[in-house]
Order: sequence, then structure tokens, then C-alpha cells
Amino acid sequence: MKNAIGAAIFYARFARPFSRLGFQRRVGAAPLDADFRGQRWVVTGATGGIGKAIALGAAARGATVLALARDGGKLADLVMASTGAGRIVPVAVDLSLMQDIRRAAAEIARDGAVDVLVHNVGVMCHEFARTVEGVERGVATNLLGHWELDGALRRGGALTSRTAIISMSSGGMYGAALELQALEAKDAATHNGFVAYAQHKRAQVELTRYWNSLGPNAPRAWVMHPGWVDTDGVRTALPGFRKLFRRVLRSAGEGADTALWLAATRPPVGEGIWLDRHRDDEHAFGFTRKGAGPTALVEWLATRHSR
Ligand SMILES: NC(=O)c1ccc[n+]([C@@H]2O[C@H](COP(=O)([O-])OP(=O)(O)OC[C@H]3O[C@@H](n4cnc5c(N)ncnc54)[C@H](OP(=O)(O)O)[C@@H]3O)[C@@H](O)[C@H]2O)c1
Repeated sequence: MKNAIGAAIFYARFARPFSRLGFQRRVGAAPLDADFRGQRWVVTGATGGIGKAIALGAAARGATVLALARDGGKLADLVMASTGAGRIVPVAVDLSLMQDIRRAAAEIARDGAVDVLVHNVGVMCHEFARTVEGVERGVATNLLGHWELDGALRRGGALTSRTAIISMSSGGMYGAALELQALEAKDAATHNGFVAYAQHKRAQVELTRYWNSLGPNAPRAWVMHPGWVDTDGVRTALPGFRKLFRRVLRSAGEGADTALWLAATRPPVGEGIWLDRHRDDEHAFGFTRKGAGPTALVEWLATRHSR
């Protein structure tokens, strides 16, 4: 009952702004004036949905995009789909495996600096499963992998004060106060894919705050969410939701728009989560302000990471 009331309040509040109607109201047909020629981008989860639209959108405007995903066939298709002044460079990597991420990051860093890093990859895992490294697959992909990629690129000298970091969170984070013990369930009996996903997405907001606290010589970071977008991820993880809302879901291009706009515009960093080229409040409900902050999160990440 409590969950049903919570869901009703959530949908009443967000159904309009997160749908295609929200995009039409705040962005509509406004052009995206962006010239990424000469820039080197890294986009994670680049072969599907929103990540694919970001990668192709950046390449069309001149960027060299290092596209990170697992499937070699989909990466080859992405290279073929690219048009315009830039190009796509495929990087096959499993972003749930820290060792594989370190390998890919070392290769990327060896070739120089990154202008834009988009932490886009994200999954909602209803089944509890651990990676071969012993980490629950969702938290590995949605959070630890972002932390690992970011850290390995920094250590390799690829992230500079000129780098823009953009993290793809989710409106689902509005329903979660960050609880460190909820980031990773211990077993299948205590795992809830919705809860874990919302926690990971809230954690991305706090991680962005941490990255922006690292001083003037560090990269600047923004966190955004795409609204509700019709992608394979939604089709697979949320079939009921998709059935209900399919007529008002956004296109992948609409979901990707704010990432491209942020990279081109680089507005002042600070509080807030971006949607449709606007900075929105990070909190919609009072209880989420009581969650853990960036220091505690980073301690958790460092500890979880060294286990
Ligand atoms: N769609 C929405 O309505 C929505 C709403 C809010 C937030 N978001 C967020 O937006 C981001 C993109 O979502 P989406 O719906 O576009 O996702 P999607 O359609 O499921 O695409 C996910 C991409 O990530 C890749 N990927 C997944 N696991 C990977 C792994 N372990 N290693 C490497 N690549 C991996 C997939 O490629 P392979 O599986 O082929 O490797 C694919 O390219 C996610 O962070 C999601 O949480 C989406």
C-alpha cells in the first residue's frame, strides 16, 4: 500500500516533465549549436539507446568518439552508422569488470587527453547476479565501474581541467535518499532491482558533487537525466511501464540532447540535476535530503573497491 501511494505521488509529479511533452515544452525545436571538431570523447554504453545517440550526435558534430560497449558486432554497426565530420572508434570492454575497465582506460590514456567523458552506461538488474569479480552486477555497472574508469583515466593523465564529465543519472533517484548499505544487496533474498537502481542513480549525483570539490585543476562535472526514453533498456527492464507510457516516451535523440548541450555549453557547475537544458533541484521530496553525502560515498567506494 505504502509503495503504491509512493508510486502514485511519483507519477503524478513527473509523468508530464519526464515524457516527450516535457521535452517539447522546454527544448522543442531549439537548435543545438555545437561544434566538437578536434575533441576527443569517451562515451560508455555507446551501442544502445541514449549512449548511441550521444556518440553519433558528437561524431556528427566533429568529435572523435571512443565508444565503449561489450558487443563487437554492435560496435561495428555503430562505426558504420556514423556520419559527418567526426568518427567513432570502437573500444570493446565490459564495464562491469574493474580489471577490464583498467585495461581499456590505460589504452585510452596512452593516446592523450579526453575532452568529454560521458558516464552513460547503466542497467536495472531484477535478478541478483555477481560478476566474476564477485560484485553485484548492477552496482558494478552503474557505480563502481564509473568510479574505476574515472580514476584510471585521471591516474593516466587523460582527464584535465579542460575535461567535461557528464553522468547519466535517472529521475528514479528522486525517490531515494542515499543509503550506503542499500547500494549492494548481500544476496538474492534482499535484492530489489528498483531500489538498487534508484540508489545507484542518487549516488551519481553525490559523486558529481565530489568530483566538483577537487579544485580548479580538476575536470568539471555535471549530472543529468534523460527523461523517459524508449530504449532496449526500458523494453527489457520495464515492460509494464513501457506499455503504459509508450505513446509519450522520448526518442533516444531527445534523451541525448542535454548531454550534447552540456558538453557544448558547459554552464557553471553546482547543485542540481540537468534535464532538457535546465538545472532542476536534486530533491523533490524532503526525505531524500537526509541521505549520505559525497564523503561517505567515496569512503564506501574506496572500501568496496579494495575488497
Ligand atoms: N531509457 C530511459 O528512459 C532512461 C531513463 C533514465 C535514465 N536512463 C539511463 O540512461 C542510460 C542509458 O540508458 P538506455 O536506456 O539507453 O540503455 P540501453 O538501451 O540498455 O543501452 C545500454 C548500453 O550500455 C551497454 N552496456 C550494458 N552493460 C554493459 C557492460 N557491462 N559493459 C559495457 N557496455 C554495457 C549496452 O551495450 P551491450 O549490452 O551490447 O554491451 C548498451 O550500449 C543508463 O544509465 C540509464 O540508467 C535511461
